[in-house]
Amino acid sequence: MSGDGHVWWEDAVVYEVYPRSFADADGDGVGDLPGLRSRLGYLADLGVDAVWLTPFYPSPLADGGYDVSDYCAVDPLLGTTADFDYLVKDAAAHQIRVIVDLVPNHCSSAHPLFRAALAAAPGSPERARFIFRDGHGPGGELPPNNWISQFGGPAWTRVTEADGRPGQWYLHLYDPGQPDWDWRNPDIPALFEDVIRFWLDRGVAGLRVDVAHGLFKDPDLPDLVGAPVLHAPSPYRHRPELQPLYRTWRAILDSYPASGFPGSRTAVGEVWYDRPETLMPYLAPGGLPQVFNFQLILPGWQAAAFRDAIDSALALTSGSRAPWVIGNHDVPRPASRYRLDEGYSPETVARLIALGDQNAEAGARRARAAALLLLALPGSAYIYQGEELGLPEVTDIPDGARQDPRFRRTKGEYPGRDGCRVPIPWARTGKGLGFSGGSGPPGSGVSPGGGVSPRASTALTDRGACPAEPWLPQPPDWGRYSVESQLADEGSFLNLYRTALRLRRDHSALGTLRWLDADGLLCFAREPGFILAANFGAATARLPAHREILLASEPVTGGRLPPDAAAWLSALTLTPCRR
Ligand code: NOJ
Repeated sequence: MSGDGHVWWEDAVVYEVYPRSFADADGDGVGDLPGLRSRLGYLADLGVDAVWLTPFYPSPLADGGYDVSDYCAVDPLLGTTADFDYLVKDAAAHQIRVIVDLVPNHCSSAHPLFRAALAAAPGSPERARFIFRDGHGPGGELPPNNWISQFGGPAWTRVTEADGRPGQWYLHLYDPGQPDWDWRNPDIPALFEDVIRFWLDRGVAGLRVDVAHGLFKDPDLPDLVGAPVLHAPSPYRHRPELQPLYRTWRAILDSYPASGFPGSRTAVGEVWYDRPETLMPYLAPGGLPQVFNFQLILPGWQAAAFRDAIDSALALTSGSRAPWVIGNHDVPRPASRYRLDEGYSPETVARLIALGDQNAEAGARRARAAALLLLALPGSAYIYQGEELGLPEVTDIPDGARQDPRFRRTKGEYPGRDGCRVPIPWARTGKGLGFSGGSGPPGSGVSPGGGVSPRASTALTDRGACPAEPWLPQPPDWGRYSVESQLADEGSFLNLYRTALRLRRDHSALGTLRWLDADGLLCFAREPGFILAANFGAATARLPAHREILLASEPVTGGRLPPDAAAWLSALTLTPCRR
């Protein structure tokens, strides 16, 4: 908490970085920590308070790094722990905090403890750290229960024992390369306490907790009855044992000083839920400081659906405890997704592939409007890298280039999440569009190195070598979305985000949300004196009475807001206040 009682994470704008796709300093086609470090100036100019890094730990990449083989190290492809330390220092020089991903539900099948479990006998203490069971059937050839993996296929894989015979099965709710830990074994909470302290001691401001509604399983491992319901309480979701665990983590977070930089430490849980009652235990005092609020990802482009989404989130808690998001590395890009009138479902990617480029303009306009809506809501907001550039979902990745285990495990039935993970275009032209080996396009305000520690490595530029192709192919027209192009265009997505974040800082003491009646528009006020108006309809609509248009996602003429647009207004009588 700062001297004035302000807790930074309660209204922070956090930028999600998918490190492999953000910026590649050494030119091998894979983003890395020095690359991110060389772009901190860009993030400072954008105006974010923190970055959340998805996993950058050593990993065989069975699931984009969410299969961790060492929780306390950096994957050599992405850098070193020294690079991480420089990143945290340089980010702090820009007043940017660093949040890291904690992956406690499962590790990688290459983790030394899982290898030890494979090498040990059934019933051994090594196996007891994971969920190994004998199979059903006369030869144990059937899985121990009927649970299925989120990526398709059974949630169990059979191992070969030391004598060469088929043996026990282990549980993996995701890929077979991601064995689930047994959280009832006291070794596991102890291991993760050490991991949490390891990163907090290195100066991170918080943790994003992967599958925070998972971890504990019903010890009887009962068969599921009926079709699996993904986000409802079940033998492997939302178990009551979670909350006491999170209270112990909160105590660790709170044992770090709240004064000074980075301020009080947060942890934000990835919790998907079906009904309010399911989420409530996570919001009790003393548990995780925050849980994600995915409500704005779920609706199609309909005013009523957005209003319901906002109301249902606010009925549970404030946006401070449940930050808002419109996208992340698991869901199709908003600029493509909001083209659809229907809400998000596992079928959305296939729908977008079928749509091709149809209606792309409307998608872009809606994503700009959604950004203004997101950033006007009370509490904290997360932006996923590339949203500020209006990147669309890449729908034509060749099958051979796709990496997502969901694509592999469903034999292509579900194309997966690669389309929102394509490397960022920094420059208008050139191989990889500035993704590899660049330190920032001209005029980007990018300041490599940040001045407090040795220059971020740009080995490629030093060598003058030719960068490798990006690890996922960028579409041929991707240069028009580049940072370089958008900085040169006053009306670009990037400039809309930069202005919105600046205005948001100036108006950060804005109060609770109050819906306003406005013909044809979704409209709310935040006292004192701020109004958001969004037009989800097909016709222009008159803006409510206002003093000034602070920002609009599309040009406004004659006081009328075009379709698929939003505006920030100052009200007639009240003056917005500065904290
Ligand atoms: C949620 C992560 O966001 C996703 O990318 C990952 O595949 C699963 N958890 C499993 O770790």
